[in-house]
Amino acid sequence: MDERLIERIKTDMSYEFARSAPPDGFPRFHDISTARHTSAEFYELEQQYLWPNTWVIAGRAEDVPNTGDYFTFDDLGVPLLVVRGSDGAIRCFYNTCQHRGAPVVRDARGSSKRLRCQYHSWTYDIDDGALVSVPDERDFVDLDWELRCLPTAGCDTFAGFVFVNRNLDAPPLREWLGPSIEMLDPFQGDTLREVYRESRIVPCNWKVTAEAFLEVYHFRHIHSHDGVSVLDNRGAAMGLYPNGHSRMITPFSRQNIERVGMTSWDDWQHLDHGPFRTIDTVPAMVDCTSTAVSLFPNAIIPLGAVGFPINLFWPIDQHTTRLDWIYYAPPIEGTDRFSPDDLPEHWVKRREVYNQIMAEDELNMAPMQTSMESPALRGIPINYQERRIWHLHEQIDRTIGAERIPPELRMEQVLGPYVLQP
Ligand code: FES
Ligand SMILES: [Fe+2]
Repeated sequence: MDERLIERIKTDMSYEFARSAPPDGFPRFHDISTARHTSAEFYELEQQYLWPNTWVIAGRAEDVPNTGDYFTFDDLGVPLLVVRGSDGAIRCFYNTCQHRGAPVVRDARGSSKRLRCQYHSWTYDIDDGALVSVPDERDFVDLDWELRCLPTAGCDTFAGFVFVNRNLDAPPLREWLGPSIEMLDPFQGDTLREVYRESRIVPCNWKVTAEAFLEVYHFRHIHSHDGVSVLDNRGAAMGLYPNGHSRMITPFSRQNIERVGMTSWDDWQHLDHGPFRTIDTVPAMVDCTSTAVSLFPNAIIPLGAVGFPINLFWPIDQHTTRLDWIYYAPPIEGTDRFSPDDLPEHWVKRREVYNQIMAEDELNMAPMQTSMESPALRGIPINYQERRIWHLHEQIDRTIGAERIPPELRMEQVLGPYVLQP
């Protein structure tokens, strides 16, 4: 987030406040088909072509601090394990023993210098997954040791997050994140630690959960308290990054500007965060706006000077999603981690406030799914300030391959000219 980006955002906000219609020439969107959120066929296309071909966040580097430390990761629908090797690199293997398919490791977390299957003790190397030991080897005829190594998935880290990708031919993580990394740059992500986490099963399609965080059109309607909304959605400055990622920076409302002692929506300054430890490299803009980045396909990060939650949406079936949110922040002075069951009072309060916002968002999700499954909803008309939702859907189609999608479910690819180029 360099000065140029911040100036650009300010200019975009002025433009957004002033406009009386979408920009000249902005495309007229067709309705998004509700079947994209409801049909088993579309869900199956996502399972076959989207999730096995995209980078997703599986955990944190500090979850595996030492050689041999591992955690399992099942949210892509296949059992994976992430392990730190003897060279310090973090890698991902399938947690599937090549003997008869038992899980190589059973515990969700652990540490071991070798990956030894708990069933018959076939043993694999933590650095390359090579099969290194087979009890009673004499009883296997022509055992092909190379063939029986643990299959690998792609794995890399950014800002302390461990990303995995089942497609070994996928572009490298940094290339895929592209310019979207500018949003997380000032946050010293490697140094942050988990404050607390929550998880909810929500009866709706995963995209219904994601879409709730891709626009602020709804903000003053469901997140106002005592008639006051802290944000003014009319000034929201959005940026569409390549590969379906995006950002949104929303200015404070008039009431909130007065409450925090600003003189105007762009009087950005560092605010007093009281007992919180702040990340000193975070620009003042973040303090005086709602600043968020979304990483395709299923991570939304509302950024803050004291840290940020990351919202993740994991499909369970076409109308069920696990919604996780995990808050990360600089650890309290003199400590290297938070104790989620024994948080200081200011964090307990912040947890309550954030969980309340999430509860307000969640209220609509299940009934929206029910409506999408009813013939009463003719289609989903998306407006200009909801264009990040369209951007998500376009990228889903590009990842699946448009030719595989029934024509009546497809997205027209129209936002290309509006995507920021590196
Ligand atoms: S299934 Fe793993 S050693 Fe037999
Ligand atoms: Fe919301």
